[in-house]
Amino acid sequence: MAFSIKLSSIVRLGRGTQLFSFNSIRYGSVIPFKLSDIGEGIREVTVKEWFVKAGDRVSQFDNICEVQSDKASVTITSRYDGKIKMLHYKIDDVALVGNPLVDIEVEDDIDNPTIDDNKNIENSIKESTEENIPSNKETAGKILTTPAVRRIATENNINLKNVIATGKDGRVLKEDVLEFLNNQMKKLNNEKNTSKISMNKIINIDDEEVVALKGYEKHMWKTMTKALSIPHFVYSDECDVTKLLELRNETKEYMKAQGIALSFMPFFIKAASKALVEYPRLNSWLDETTQSLRIIKRHNISVAMDTSDGLVVPNIKNVQSLSVSQIASELNRLQELGRSVSFPLADLTGGTFSLSNIGMIGGTYTKPVILPPQIVIGALGKIQKLPRFDNDGKNIIAANIISVSWAADHRVIDGVTMAKFSNLWRYYIENPALLMI
Ligand code: COA
Repeated sequence: MAFSIKLSSIVRLGRGTQLFSFNSIRYGSVIPFKLSDIGEGIREVTVKEWFVKAGDRVSQFDNICEVQSDKASVTITSRYDGKIKMLHYKIDDVALVGNPLVDIEVEDDIDNPTIDDNKNIENSIKESTEENIPSNKETAGKILTTPAVRRIATENNINLKNVIATGKDGRVLKEDVLEFLNNQMKKLNNEKNTSKISMNKIINIDDEEVVALKGYEKHMWKTMTKALSIPHFVYSDECDVTKLLELRNETKEYMKAQGIALSFMPFFIKAASKALVEYPRLNSWLDETTQSLRIIKRHNISVAMDTSDGLVVPNIKNVQSLSVSQIASELNRLQELGRSVSFPLADLTGGTFSLSNIGMIGGTYTKPVILPPQIVIGALGKIQKLPRFDNDGKNIIAANIISVSWAADHRVIDGVTMAKFSNLWRYYIENPALLMI
């Protein structure tokens, strides 16, 4: 019984009824190398980087390109040894699952096992959030196999280290995993016959509820797990928003009449963009493989948003060329999408710098977690009326104070840079008229 469940999960991988068929590809054939199903319902991705060009030779597991979906950044690796004949997309083009990414002239006769009715040639993917699939050069300590086999193993809770590999160079084949499964099932059946203890007697199932993670929660799991490897440098400060409160109060009704709800966020976002003009390095993506920073001229500011489906982080594009009211209007649009939890991919991808305003819920300080490949995130606390000294330092006055905490990737950003950026951001917030110029 249980064995048939496992088989069906294997079949589901290929969306077909055949478990395996063989698709022969001869030396010198030019084949389209297609974008395979990345899973989680993703139908399209944006091509972010090419690691190859026409004429390049590639080996199995060499990186082909980096693509980005709303869920993750994915490195596509080659399944073949061969020569790249043609790239089908330019950077920032949208590629559809099932369509060719590149054409490859194969340099071997291949009996290509497929698990798809359409006999699609599956490409190999390497999710940046998953265990790396080793290239030929970096096999030490890693398990050599294809993503499809890795997925079968994951779905069946198999640690690939326990599987006896019979493939070339110690590669784990699908057959090896199936054999392992078979043996496990035999073992399980034997145990079942000797032990009749019911799990229900050990765990009172009425006491608990099992909730499977879904959608954006799964994405949060992946992104935050990835962020764990980032050494976070956190810098916090407080900021007097009394003038900002006044400015907002003066303008919000006027904006409302134009159909725009003006909150504090557009000012926080604009101030971040203005400060980024002085500190462009903070608006970057970090490429860990090449240990390089991609400094991005567009300020696509990501905004953490609370939705009924959990945390979503859409971004406002090109903030450097938007006014505060345009930012407010964009934020309103995203909040509207947030209410129906129906963000187009374009709103969820391409963010370069993040802000999170948890202060509308409460709290003074929070330590935000960076969204890789970005390198900085700022978090805002609750605006509070607090006693502070006036400019002369003699009288105590009531001031409106907000805290801000910046988390930066300390591998590439030092504390002084972060502190200087924060000071400039604060200067704009404390003198908000400058944001309207
Ligand atoms: N302190 C006090 N009040 C605040 C505030 C703060 N830091 N930020 C917002 N407010 C107030 C606003 O002024 C508004 O009240 P008002 O119109 O009566 O004056 C109210 O809270 C609601 O603001 P909101 O409509 O949510 O707008 P916003 O632009 O301030 O925030 C989002 C937009 C998307 C950031 C916000 O709705 C949100 O989802 N925040 C949660 C972010 C999150 O989940 N972070 C955690 C990541 S792990």
